[in-house]
Amino acid sequence: MYPLIRNRRLRKNETIRSLVRETIISPNDFLVPLFICEGKGVKEEIASMPNYYRYSLDFIKKEVKELWQMGLRSVLLFVKVPDELKDNKGAEVTNPDGLMQRAIKAIKDTCPDMIVMTDVAFDPYSKYGHDGIVENGLILNDETSELLAEMSVSHAEAGADFVAPSDMMDGRILTIREALEDEGFINTGIMSYSAKYASAFYGPFRDALDSAPVDAQNIPKDKKTYQMDYANRFEAIRETQLDIEEGADIVMVKPGLCYLDIVREIKNEVDVPVAVYQVSGEYAMVKAATAQGWLDHDAVMMEQLTAIKRAGANIIASYFAKDAIKFL
Ligand code: PBG
Repeated sequence: MYPLIRNRRLRKNETIRSLVRETIISPNDFLVPLFICEGKGVKEEIASMPNYYRYSLDFIKKEVKELWQMGLRSVLLFVKVPDELKDNKGAEVTNPDGLMQRAIKAIKDTCPDMIVMTDVAFDPYSKYGHDGIVENGLILNDETSELLAEMSVSHAEAGADFVAPSDMMDGRILTIREALEDEGFINTGIMSYSAKYASAFYGPFRDALDSAPVDAQNIPKDKKTYQMDYANRFEAIRETQLDIEEGADIVMVKPGLCYLDIVREIKNEVDVPVAVYQVSGEYAMVKAATAQGWLDHDAVMMEQLTAIKRAGANIIASYFAKDAIKFL
């Protein structure tokens, strides 16, 4: 007998396809990364990230209002720290008038209900471009964790809803959680970059913040002693479970597209929300290929975002957030 089951019945037209569609992208899925710089009236395109910008504080207020109007409700802040404020100990990270602290306040003043998450890592402040304090060619773990805890408290004081440690030091989630509790910030959340791989896809981001590791003797040229080896899978689960035990409210896998096997694995394993960061290099690839006319921008963008969500992402940090909402 000819097959009774014909799967194509459910693909006959867009109406039936949309009735049975499992994964739908909506504005609530997104966390919008924002790059902030000093100055006035600055909106600077990042060379390796077409149509993505660094904004000064006055312009970031306008941008955040626009995001809110589009239905985007969460932002993730990164600051481009002026060179003269970079060091190897973190003098600037807790400055209550620092760029990050002012940015948090400016955004909360403009748009009080916007969820503000802040990058917690040392690299934008490090004269060596590392996520930790460097000593004798080593990235110090515990000293860095203490610094990240102070940074987190400072962001919480300025009004951050969540701190997002992206550094991959061991034990830093516990150190940060305890510091926040001690200072009374019991409702400040932690979104941990739990499974963050040492990836070549971060290049454009390091251009955006001018934060690439410096090329100097005795300074490690890559982040492989703290970010994960991309060949590893079990380690991602272990990292994620530890972060949850230490108090992470949300865990993250990063980058996105090359790591969707890890996303699914973690999603099956844990019961906290899972975020995925579709990183700068992923954005740059799509922009470059579509600028050549080799791929269809919106189609490829939506396919990738849907794949990330289908793999198990509850939250997608993506430079495509605005493009995707416009398309929808
Ligand atoms: C730094 C940090 C990086 C990213 C987010 N936070 C870069 C790095 O680890 O070198 C990358 C994000 C992206 O590429 O979009 N702590």
